[in-house]
Amino acid sequence: MNDMTVFDVEKIRGDFPIFEEKIHGKRLTFLDSGASAQKPVAVLDAVQDAYRHTYANVHRGVHYLSQKSTELYEGARETVRDHLNAASVDEIIFTKSTTEAINLVANSFGQMAIGEGDEILLSYLEHHSNIVPWQLVAERVGATVKAVPIDTNGDLLRDRYEEMLTDRTKIVAITHVSNAIGTVNPVKELIAKAHSKDIPVLIDGSQAIPHMKVDVRDLDADFYVFTGHKVFAPTGIGVLFGKAELLEKMPPYQGGGDMINRVTFEKTTFATGHSKFEAGTPPIVQAIGLGAAIDYVNKIGFDQIAAHEQSLLSYATQELGKLNNIRIIGQAKQKAAIVSFTMDDIHPHDIGTIIDQAGVAVRVGHHCAQPLMDFYDVPSTVRASFALYNNKEDVDALVESIKMVQEFFR
Ligand code: ALA
Repeated sequence: MNDMTVFDVEKIRGDFPIFEEKIHGKRLTFLDSGASAQKPVAVLDAVQDAYRHTYANVHRGVHYLSQKSTELYEGARETVRDHLNAASVDEIIFTKSTTEAINLVANSFGQMAIGEGDEILLSYLEHHSNIVPWQLVAERVGATVKAVPIDTNGDLLRDRYEEMLTDRTKIVAITHVSNAIGTVNPVKELIAKAHSKDIPVLIDGSQAIPHMKVDVRDLDADFYVFTGHKVFAPTGIGVLFGKAELLEKMPPYQGGGDMINRVTFEKTTFATGHSKFEAGTPPIVQAIGLGAAIDYVNKIGFDQIAAHEQSLLSYATQELGKLNNIRIIGQAKQKAAIVSFTMDDIHPHDIGTIIDQAGVAVRVGHHCAQPLMDFYDVPSTVRASFALYNNKEDVDALVESIKMVQEFFR
């Protein structure tokens, strides 16, 4: 339940020790949360407490610490289940990242359901992690990867989407929010369209989870994946939500400890539920940190987070738009707080390097979305990505630093 009645960005900034740092002697303007978000004290404490006071391996010991550690690890799973409104904790699998979660589905679901001549439907907005695993599977089994095009604003062409859902389509894998240009896809509608043809859908929620409340049952997603480090949790923890009826049928992805029922040299039988997909010692403390991060954002409340970020997005778009040699890439109808842009023929790497001297951190490059860069006919962009701790001063600092770049190249 949200107990913060007024959204107080300065108070929130106080929760993040990184903002005490000076970068090249300047105030830190951190606009790279799309790559990885900073960590609040609540998460740092949860991680440190877990290592200092309750650490042991999980699911393997009768001793006090192992039981305590198991309790915290499984408690984090329940926190994620509750946050996503999944029906059961067996639908929540901890992985090391979104990438691993997608590879898990591509391999396991792929082995079960994708064969020669079949199609896998993606979109032009995908991150490489939601392209390459599918290409690997497609190559192995003789399937084809197809991508739904977008318009120049960065909105998915819905008519084309519907046309591309065919009898051969075995899965749709699509991003909720584009990491490179911020487009928010109408995923509920896309899922319904695919389901009308009995096609399951995987949603890559990596860039959605830090910005909006996601309800997997309301979306009716078959798979929903995200990573912890973009939602203020440690690195090394990802989540795969999968509908129980699908997960039950899917073969294991990796073999090892904790995912078995009985092992003999002749034959192994597997554990059921989430355990079947969690081979080896899991990312215990990272999961505990994720639980703390989810509690943290829920305490603030997503209505407030979204409203704050949207006002920053409007302000940044307006102020950058006033600079006449800026081209904003991606102006979708619905956007998360991500602004990607180019500036005349100045290389984004030069821009990033110059504004870094002013303490402004952005990501420059192709953002692991080369097909999307190809669509816009640019090799790379400058991307400012916002999070709940950014303020108006951050936008002003970005704009001032961009003016500095203009001066430099004049
Ligand atoms: N996927 C991350 C990004 O968009 C790393 O920057």
